[in-house]
Amino acid sequence: MSTTESTHTRAVAAADVVRSTLDEAAQATVRDRLQPLLVDLIDLSLTAKQLHWNVVGPSFRALHEQLDEVTDQYRLWLDSVAERMTSVGIAPDGRVQRVAGDSPADPAPESWAHQSVVVEAMADRIQAVARATRDRLDGLGDVDVASEDLLIEILDGLEMQLWMFSAQQA
Ligand SMILES: [Fe+2]
Repeated sequence: MSTTESTHTRAVAAADVVRSTLDEAAQATVRDRLQPLLVDLIDLSLTAKQLHWNVVGPSFRALHEQLDEVTDQYRLWLDSVAERMTSVGIAPDGRVQRVAGDSPADPAPESWAHQSVVVEAMADRIQAVARATRDRLDGLGDVDVASEDLLIEILDGLEMQLWMFSAQQA
């Protein structure tokens, strides 16, 4: 057996032994709602760090620090989302290839970015993820109230971030 086959066989076996209190249909619903949110939060965490490094302008200091604060928040949330999935027997996929392939967002600026561009980019992304989180909440509580509770907490936090970035566009 090749190394690839051996690794694959072990992965399949692991999927069978992680117990879940959800039936397969409920697991599929939770996977459909949480996996894309995991991708969105990894993308947001990487984007915020990229902009933390590349922001320029008179408000550099405040934005540089604000972007690190939201990065820390995304990292906490994405871990909670991934581990909510594992807690009901679903393997999360946080690989860079999956995130790059699945994220609907445009790439962050490659190099130096003026503060106005940074604020608009963050507000746009956060708004998109908050809206998607609202959509993903629809009916989720019917199959898993714990996942619903986590998404409500994340939605609340995202909308607070949206307020703080969009207020800087005035
Ligand atoms: Fe830093």
